[in-house]
Amino acid sequence: MKYLCPTLFLAALFGTAALAQQQPISIIPQPVSVQAQPGTFRLTKTTSIHYGQLPAQYAADALVKKLNQATGYALRAIPGDRGAIQFAINTTPDPALGAEGYTLDATPKQVIIRANQPAGLFYGMQSLVQLLPKEVEGARAATVAWTVPAVRITDQPRFGWRGIMLDVSRNFFAKEEVKRYIDQLAALKYNTFHWHLTDDNGWRIEIKSLPKLTEIGAWRVERAGKFGSRDAPKPGEPAKSGGFYTHDDIREVVQYAADRYVTIVPEIDVPGHSMAALAAYPELSCTKAQVMVNPGTAFSEWYGNGTFKMLVENTLNPSDENVYAFMDKVLTEVASLFPGQYIHVGGDECYKGYWANDPGCQALMKKLNLRHVEDLQGYFMERVAKIVQAKGKKMIGWDEILEGGVPGDAAVMSWRGVKGGIEAAQAGHNVVMTPTTFAYLDYNQGDATIDPPIYATLRTRKSYSFEPVPDGVDPKRILGGQGNLWTEQIPTMRYAEYMTYPRAWALSEVYWSPKEAKNWPNFVQRMEKQFSRADVAGINYSKAIYDAIIRTSTKDGKLMLELEGEVPGLDIFYSIDDTMPDQFSPRYSGPVALPDGPINLRVITYRAGKPIGHLITLKRDDLVKRR
Ligand code: ACM
Repeated sequence: MKYLCPTLFLAALFGTAALAQQQPISIIPQPVSVQAQPGTFRLTKTTSIHYGQLPAQYAADALVKKLNQATGYALRAIPGDRGAIQFAINTTPDPALGAEGYTLDATPKQVIIRANQPAGLFYGMQSLVQLLPKEVEGARAATVAWTVPAVRITDQPRFGWRGIMLDVSRNFFAKEEVKRYIDQLAALKYNTFHWHLTDDNGWRIEIKSLPKLTEIGAWRVERAGKFGSRDAPKPGEPAKSGGFYTHDDIREVVQYAADRYVTIVPEIDVPGHSMAALAAYPELSCTKAQVMVNPGTAFSEWYGNGTFKMLVENTLNPSDENVYAFMDKVLTEVASLFPGQYIHVGGDECYKGYWANDPGCQALMKKLNLRHVEDLQGYFMERVAKIVQAKGKKMIGWDEILEGGVPGDAAVMSWRGVKGGIEAAQAGHNVVMTPTTFAYLDYNQGDATIDPPIYATLRTRKSYSFEPVPDGVDPKRILGGQGNLWTEQIPTMRYAEYMTYPRAWALSEVYWSPKEAKNWPNFVQRMEKQFSRADVAGINYSKAIYDAIIRTSTKDGKLMLELEGEVPGLDIFYSIDDTMPDQFSPRYSGPVALPDGPINLRVITYRAGKPIGHLITLKRDDLVKRR
């Protein structure tokens, strides 16, 4: 030791100490490579921010806007190559970075973000924002030390399609709400916003050549209460609830998204899910019966194995040429409004009962030599695909489009598990993975006695565990994946956020980060940092990850209880004696045989001696039902 150069020794010691003191580096989605370096960069009111080339200006300006709001400084991004914060497009593209990757080098003197393309600079800028203190997310100036830990990051996405779908039919969201949602998604490096614009409960996009679609189809009667069990419209009752986007609104949102490197995939859901369109143009169905835009009544019966029956007609008539003329008009305007290559045409959950009884459909089946009425959907999709192609676009549809034979170049969105995705990929189609089991953001996140229950439970840990490329599938066929937010039970944007996060944080990592980088305990630490950033930003999110997972089974005639924490470090306490549980109650350490009798189970989680999860109470009957 005594032969070591004293200054080197001090430097080594000091460097380590500086690293240890630094704020931890916590970015979602986890970058490909993060190497912490000694020291800290400090942003002040005189920090210079430069962009090397014009295409780099957008990311620099976006950073400045965010910084000025949070710091109260009057920073300005200017052309140049000597900024303390420097944005630069690589003059020789770095093949390791692709179109969306970036490098971020932060030293005590300078932060340099480099990329091959502007999108990469935007993502590097988003990582830099996450390196700053949480107050950077605030809408008002805060007084904190605006420090960035020195670090070297190299990053690029695993998949080119990283999406979130928002259903604006079941509940209408104003364009400003949609923009805010897209802004949040872009910060997580999502690049696709799938806009579910039409369904049984409202048609949300103006089609100038078919004005009744929004004059009638965008409006339904006011109803409160649980979706699916509401009262039907009464004769003459005014339909005042709803809304739609004009062409100008759509162009505005498309541009807003494009500014954030987000492509919008519009969805016109046909031939099923078309009740709102039929409310406007009833002549397009088989029965031609006048239907109303549905306010959330029980209009279908489900038999538990995926089969179902519609009690009200909601399908377009595939044997009517007027239907294809209608689709042509709709898709002409949709194609002119959305610059992206894909148009989603739905194809899901189409009930064939009205087709089966329709003489026109029967004649068409005979002409086409089709034995099963289901095969008429293949014919319909093929016709629609031709229209989509004629507008210079590509078709994408839900995995039901596989059932009647998928049109040549159509992409498939696998939602009923990954089976459809595997089949489509093996048949040479491109696939977007969004299975209910991992990616349905409408499912309740925690215990269904705490979170408003819906079709199923999907916990954040489960979303995080998703692997989008199934074994035996050519990874090139998997474009990427999505989370889908259906809004039957989501009446406000605030609640849409609650349902989106933290699962959309988990999925952003599934679709962006290397498979090998996934690590649940590590993600949990970063998710908790993200909670406090969301608090500053005023973004809602669920804390269901702190609630106990409660399961039961039967063993030797006894009702057995199993409890589990979703995140590491939770202590779970319970009572079955009608006392309120706390840290002095029995601590769960393994399966418990519950006594007979009318017991109530109460469960609470603690962390580091403090209650953290919800109190969950279940009666014996509820526990028996869970076996
Ligand atoms: C779907 O969830 N019906 C695609």
